[in-house]
Amino acid sequence: MGPEPLFLGLETSCDETAAAVLSGDNEILGHVVLSQDVHEVFGGVVPELAARAHLQKVDAVVNEALLQANVRLKDIDVFGVTAGPGLIGALLVGVCWIKAAAYGLGRPWIPVHHMEAHLFSPSLEDADAEPPFIALLVSGGHTLLLHARAWGDYRLLGETRDDAAGEAFDKVAKRLGLGYPGGPQIQRLAEQGEASRYHFPRPMLARTQVPKDPGFYDFSFSGLKTAVVERVQALETQGVLREEKAHIAAAFQVAAVDVLAAKTMRAVEQTGCRRVLLGGGVSVNSALRAEVASRLGDQGRLFYASPRLSLDNGAMVARAARFRFECGEIADFYSSASAKLEFPGLVGAA
Ligand code: KG4
Ligand code: ZN
Repeated sequence: MGPEPLFLGLETSCDETAAAVLSGDNEILGHVVLSQDVHEVFGGVVPELAARAHLQKVDAVVNEALLQANVRLKDIDVFGVTAGPGLIGALLVGVCWIKAAAYGLGRPWIPVHHMEAHLFSPSLEDADAEPPFIALLVSGGHTLLLHARAWGDYRLLGETRDDAAGEAFDKVAKRLGLGYPGGPQIQRLAEQGEASRYHFPRPMLARTQVPKDPGFYDFSFSGLKTAVVERVQALETQGVLREEKAHIAAAFQVAAVDVLAAKTMRAVEQTGCRRVLLGGGVSVNSALRAEVASRLGDQGRLFYASPRLSLDNGAMVARAARFRFECGEIADFYSSASAKLEFPGLVGAA
């Protein structure tokens, strides 16, 4: 290994085939994200198609990242890959690829937890984005609120009891006839609508106001989604859905953002930690960023990454792999992918 170890990060847990090369001082030397389009007509990710598309593209994506970094595969010192959670067929493509490369070159491979990787994204652009912080991790499959006391030392505060935040955006978008992924489409449409025209429920907010209430930090998005879908149905029956779509999108977004921001602020107030990190695909949402920023005020610090690092990518995987590598966590070649991988270092609320 040279003085500057090189890390490769590969991400194939869902519908992005992504690879990045990271230098030892966290400089992104190559960065490629290929979003699969085979799912568009289905309005959601089809696991079997995702795995097949990863298999077709993984070589090209890694090669392009190496080319950008002006290095060869044999120059990579440490191989990181998302090992879970995610779609098992999709994960296996990445894990098998990385294990084969690491084995062939006699280098270590590091299995990375997808949501821990999301935690590292802001630190790739801002050296201050280090624990301690309250992290709201919101993606298509997960909604987690945690207190990161140090890298690798995380206390779980809350999680979703049903749908993930991104899943709610995607399902509402699908019902409104918008494309997939739904989050960006909802955001765009919401900008043309008036949120006050409709009022949707804020699940787990009003009746969980004191810390001893079960669900004080937890989320639920399925009731909100159903309320929106039922309203859309009624408007469709009346033949006025087209005129109301933007207002519906805006009212839904306000309700979802309200719950996410409120729970995050509960964590800030209870822990006294005024440093907040937003991570995962939904953290790209500008209404969410603005709402948390405004509630946190001047006394707090808010961290989030630019969209290319907030959405699924290989750089965050390489960065998380680097952390785990430095902890000495090198995997053997019997380890593999796991659809329900446990979040490393995460302990339940004390
Ligand atoms: O982290 P990510 O790229 O993949 C997963 O790990 O799931 O997150 C994807 C999710 C999707 O549900 C997508 O609709 C949502 O992030 N998303 C957004 C926005 N951009 C992406 N949700 C709300 N507003 C956005 N601007
Ligand atoms: Zn993700």
